[in-house]
Amino acid sequence: MWATPALLAVLLSVPALGDIVTGIPDAAPPGFEEWTSPIVIPSPNVTGQGNWASAVSRARTFVAQLTLPEKINVTTGIDVLGRCVGNTGTIPRLGWKGLCLEDSPLGVRFADFVSAFPAGINAAATWDRGLIQARGQAMGAEHKGKGVNFALGPMTNLGRVAAGGRNWEGFGADPFLSGVATAASVEGYQSAGVIATVKHFIGNEQEHFRGGSEPSTVESSNIDDRTLHELYLWPFAEAVKAGVGAVMCSYNYINQTQACQNSKLINGVLKEELGFQGLVMSDWAAMINGVQPALAGVDLDMPGFVGYGIGDQNEPNPSVAQNSWWGAQLIESVNNGSVPESRVDDMVTRIFATWYMLGQDKNYPDVSFSQLTQETFLNGELVNEHINVQADHFKLIREIGAASAILLKNTKKALPLSAKKLKRIGIFGSDAGANPDGPNGCANGGADRGCSQGTLAMGWGSGTAQFPYLIDPLSAISTHIQSIDPTVLIDGITSDFNLAAVRTSASLADTCLVFVNADSGEGYITVDGNAGDRNNLTLWHGGENLILAAADNCANTIVVQHVVGPVLVESWIDHPNVTAVVHAGIPGQESGNAIVDVLFSDGSQATNPSGRLPYTIAKLRTDYPADVLYTTSVKVPQITYSEELNIDYRHFDAQGIEPRFEFGFGLSYTTFSYSGLGIAKSGGRRRAVSTIAPLPTSFSNVPGRPASSASLGPAGSSASVASTKTASASSAAASSPVVSHSASVVSASASHGSASSFSASGSASTPVSGSVSGSVSASVSASVSASASASASATANTTASAPSALSSPINPIGGPSELFDQIATISFTVHNSGGVAGNEVSQVYLGFPASANEPPKVLRGFARTMIRAGASAHVSVPLRRKDVSVWDVVKQEWVVPEGTFGVFVGSSSRDVRLTGSLEF
Ligand code: BGC
Repeated sequence: MWATPALLAVLLSVPALGDIVTGIPDAAPPGFEEWTSPIVIPSPNVTGQGNWASAVSRARTFVAQLTLPEKINVTTGIDVLGRCVGNTGTIPRLGWKGLCLEDSPLGVRFADFVSAFPAGINAAATWDRGLIQARGQAMGAEHKGKGVNFALGPMTNLGRVAAGGRNWEGFGADPFLSGVATAASVEGYQSAGVIATVKHFIGNEQEHFRGGSEPSTVESSNIDDRTLHELYLWPFAEAVKAGVGAVMCSYNYINQTQACQNSKLINGVLKEELGFQGLVMSDWAAMINGVQPALAGVDLDMPGFVGYGIGDQNEPNPSVAQNSWWGAQLIESVNNGSVPESRVDDMVTRIFATWYMLGQDKNYPDVSFSQLTQETFLNGELVNEHINVQADHFKLIREIGAASAILLKNTKKALPLSAKKLKRIGIFGSDAGANPDGPNGCANGGADRGCSQGTLAMGWGSGTAQFPYLIDPLSAISTHIQSIDPTVLIDGITSDFNLAAVRTSASLADTCLVFVNADSGEGYITVDGNAGDRNNLTLWHGGENLILAAADNCANTIVVQHVVGPVLVESWIDHPNVTAVVHAGIPGQESGNAIVDVLFSDGSQATNPSGRLPYTIAKLRTDYPADVLYTTSVKVPQITYSEELNIDYRHFDAQGIEPRFEFGFGLSYTTFSYSGLGIAKSGGRRRAVSTIAPLPTSFSNVPGRPASSASLGPAGSSASVASTKTASASSAAASSPVVSHSASVVSASASHGSASSFSASGSASTPVSGSVSGSVSASVSASVSASASASASATANTTASAPSALSSPINPIGGPSELFDQIATISFTVHNSGGVAGNEVSQVYLGFPASANEPPKVLRGFARTMIRAGASAHVSVPLRRKDVSVWDVVKQEWVVPEGTFGVFVGSSSRDVRLTGSLEF
């Protein structure tokens, strides 16, 4: 008897047996009817386009010799008791050892002798593509060195809400910056030979109700098509363009449909529109069904079982696994016709193609560690060879740590410090010191950094790695000062709450350093009442009081923040004795050394700060356009992204709200002046290429949407961009549920709400039936077929002209190649007008023609340039066609709006130094 009561309960509580199987999209609750996801089937087969031809052809040859159980062993994990957090099965007959998948986006999780890199948010804060790529490459080399096939990073959700628990794993709140950082990371990882996994696809923007294996309440991120393309999809698209091998679908729902069975997003957007050639894996136990993810385009079920703590957690041979949505069930689904074997072939082909593509078939290291233990042996088996893969990555970690430090305030020439000039320094705060339980320890015994002790250098959750060591600020600063003048009095107080001692010490010191922090992480761990997402945007451990205790008594109080995201600073930032503030993020193992480099001018690696905020620091929490949904009384809370394109600085600009520190802000120890703006258009094709149907003229017959005559593109469309809300252009009218591969045709006609104008359905070529077999299948299958017949009339009109899978348009990898043509160049001269060398991060923002309905300005380029004191640098920033395009929801393509673009070049999103214009 394989179905335990718990498993039975899970299987029978499957929330959505509609959609792909029945042809009816998952229903929306009242009031949210427009937020549904259309169905796009069948799943497109990998084409082998671009440079994938040889890898795909080799994969096809390999897959051709496999039996169905062998194929299933490749598509389904062996649960979580294997060596890595994810492991596929093996093919012993052919000596194929399976694949290891391992977190995290900042290092190799659970392994020893690895590095703990600065978090993604710090990488982004450098605004340095080269450093970000080098970080990816170093992490990739460490993963490979440990025998990991898939690194489970980068993470590129956008930070829609400032308190989002996992924002620090990603690259900030702007799609362009995040896109550059994501692509650079992918290139870095994969140049080292490991397969990068970009995650979490998509709309996984908060931890509360994000979903997972056990929760009964899972949110639906309701995202309109344009916002999807221009914000949340953008970094994923850049990853695909950069050749990423794997995409991880997320736990949450998008427009009512769970991410891993959202055929519109996986089949339609990822595999067709973006021409993705790699594989899609589920987040860990994200699948809530077997057939639907298979038909929706998922290729790999991780970690294999149906849920954490539910049933068997260790099945080394997935083809017989009963405790899985796939495993033996996928065999059954193939045998009963629910899933075509060709779909399974494509899953396996994509997996092997990626493996060949990265050259992992040749001399790839075996797994030499175990996620389960740092001991050498486990149950008598050698599992950890303690291979040291750190190389000299500590140098890069220190460099990025310093390069990501953002100088927010610097008055009275407080910084940089010189050890020689100090007589007595007070260093305050638990964030200055070491964790008393060791760098990876928690007094509560928690793993994955699930506590807040000592200096903060990474957040908590699966996005972590073991610190090999953690240089704390107090030690590093003390060492530095003493190397220059051992007579300086250093008063370190690492209690946050002994304010009397801090006041006394501060009143005697000539300089005071106050270290404060704010932590967050993944929602499976709650720290100090914060269930992943932060409860507030204030400092932890009473940091504000600590700062004020020092500042009230010390005329030169310098604050260093180790924070996962924005914190509100209003209660102390204008204190006259707070002379300087360094926003250091979470810099990884070299934290203390990196902060010495920034604070002191007399260190061996003194660094002039050049980090820039990858998000806005508001004056008030309510100034942000959206926030975490913390409570709900419904099973599927609806989180509608009603701010649309206006997240972060775009909202502050659009609403005229003064931030405390704007996106892109950061000071330097020198000053820069800008001159000589040049704007040159490149030759080449003028418009985004259209392969699709002509425009409809209006949306006026779509329920609930105003007609609009806003002109979008050169073709003179009169359709409204802003009026379409669903993740595709289609309105997913209940009477027209199944859309074809020809997204453009479908979207155009669906936007008119006309069932008869739907051109096709995949249902004809994709036989489906009850998804679940075995002892629980009867009731489930019954409900499926009941729904299916109920929907038959609804889909009848749409199936007649169904195209075959081969007729589906699959774009080049990343989208139409014209999008990546350089279409203009913005050039200018930056002069270092101060007294010391430094990096300037120049930023190029565009203001689109009014007709395009874009935010006032959007980042579309940047460059970090080292310039000697008194010297000048000529800086050129290319613009690609995509950078000057908007997503046309009617045409389902990127279109360059006609008209005048404002070009704003400067030092932050609000510190604009040069202004020009560009015509299209
Ligand atoms: C996280 C993923 C992670 C996976 C494996 C999930 O809970 O959302 O980011 O890669 O676990 O640890």
